[in-house]
Amino acid sequence: MLDFKKTASQLIAREVDSMTIQEIYDAFEVPKFTQMGDLAFPCFKFAKVQRKSPNIIAEEISKSIESNEIFEKITSEGGYVNFTISKAILAKEVLLNIESQKDFYGSSNIGAGKTAIVEFSSTNIAKPFHIGHIRSTMIGNSLYRIYKFMNYDTVGINHLGDYGTQFGKLIVAFKLWGDKETIENDPIPELLKLYVKFHEEAEKNPVLDEEARQWFTKLENNDTEAYELWKWIRDESLKEFNRVYTLLDVHFDSFAGESFYSDKMPAVLTELRESGVLVKDAGAEIVDLSEHNMPPALITKKDGSSLYITRDLAAAIYRKNHYNFYKNIYVVGAQQQLHFKQWFKIIEMMGHEWAKDCVHVEFGTVSLEEGSLSTRRGKIVFLEDVLNKAVEQTAKIIEEKNPNLENKEEVAKAVGVGAVVFQELSNNRIKDYTFSLEKTLSFEGETGPYVQYTHARACSVLKKANEYSLENINFDLLTDERSIEVIRILNKFPEITMLAAEKYEPSIVTRYTVNLAQEFNHFYHDNSIITDDAELTKARLLLVDAVRQTIKNGLYLIGLKAPEKM
Ligand code: ARG
Repeated sequence: MLDFKKTASQLIAREVDSMTIQEIYDAFEVPKFTQMGDLAFPCFKFAKVQRKSPNIIAEEISKSIESNEIFEKITSEGGYVNFTISKAILAKEVLLNIESQKDFYGSSNIGAGKTAIVEFSSTNIAKPFHIGHIRSTMIGNSLYRIYKFMNYDTVGINHLGDYGTQFGKLIVAFKLWGDKETIENDPIPELLKLYVKFHEEAEKNPVLDEEARQWFTKLENNDTEAYELWKWIRDESLKEFNRVYTLLDVHFDSFAGESFYSDKMPAVLTELRESGVLVKDAGAEIVDLSEHNMPPALITKKDGSSLYITRDLAAAIYRKNHYNFYKNIYVVGAQQQLHFKQWFKIIEMMGHEWAKDCVHVEFGTVSLEEGSLSTRRGKIVFLEDVLNKAVEQTAKIIEEKNPNLENKEEVAKAVGVGAVVFQELSNNRIKDYTFSLEKTLSFEGETGPYVQYTHARACSVLKKANEYSLENINFDLLTDERSIEVIRILNKFPEITMLAAEKYEPSIVTRYTVNLAQEFNHFYHDNSIITDDAELTKARLLLVDAVRQTIKNGLYLIGLKAPEKM
């Protein structure tokens, strides 16, 4: 494909001597509004040296560049030089490029030869997989897909919470009150009951706490009975978690959780002590972080046992040695900001320059709209229940609107689950949001079903047209305002995916798919695709196909399926 940016950079380079072509190339932005053009070159940095306002500089540059075959218009506005690509050329380049790249349209090679770790979901064994977990799970899943799309060797890790003193408690509770069969029938809720009961009983009888500590020590020392029980609890929990992951179409390359690092801790502690970072504090060991304006980090307890943060240090060092990552990404809620800041700093204090490659991708909380869910088990809303409910309601809608649809069940799943995921990824991740099942499932407005439906509509038009060829398309027929607006948005997709990767922000892709769907629907509303004019039909079908492909790619990157019929 023609590199428009490169051509524009060459034109700018003739007018500007203080920047290299590459610097110019990198400085280009996408104009805020498509009416301003396709490429914008900012002139703010020249203002000081030239003692002129950016507006005037941009105007002068734009006046001295003549429009040509590729750029039909070169103007200036607000300190930018704006380039408008000739419509027919733009249409041709963009559409043929999408046709040739297909499922890879929007991808990039920037990650080639580099490893990116995306740690996400990281649920806790024997605890509910609740609605709150959708955030790390789906933001992480999307980043995993986006990084793969950028050609990174991507490793998805579920850092399971499968270690810690609570397992001592669970073992004690199970031995006292538990029943194997009851648990295997409904693992998480039953294990949760045991856990709750333990706490109630331990309040009356503190001996239980002591016993729990002993069982955890046994577990740390590889006692067979402790290990078998722990493993059974882990396996049962994973069975339930995997059901949800399957429903969500989420996959991991590794389930190395906290327990995986239990035997890797001593070496890390030695390294910490030798690097002089660790100090004794009333029998425990801490890292003093006062110089960095943070509270001290507790690394080992008085009884020598390790903590959550110790396991994170061990995990990061292991990952560096094992994967030699270029980037080590953690998708974890904003409540843990201090925790991550602390241990990133400790890694740096240990002399590991790669501390800078560790990234905490934080996010806000999700709460539920009152009354939107009647499926509470106890006080907790299980994610699986929410997803099932969304699928159920979608199935009802399909039954009303399109009872003869093939693969009804599969479509209901793709749309129902997709709707929940789409809403989850619609806002900037750092924002808190309120989940609403009703809003989610609407076929109008900025929802998953709306975008999926637009995709299905494009598929059905293409199907109706049967065969069509890409030969000898007359791109002048796609230069009207509606068509070109769609094409401009299509053209933005590669920048959008890049930006989403850079900012660790799936919502950029989500909102893009809405924007594309809306613009396409305007086009569709105003134009017949299949007309008596064969040449026009052919050109429009190409546009429809490019939209279909790009929506599909976008939905894939946020973890949604794109059914061909709805
Ligand atoms: N299991 C932890 C929790 O539920 C999240 C783990 C986050 N990842 C990490 N490497 N600390 O809070």
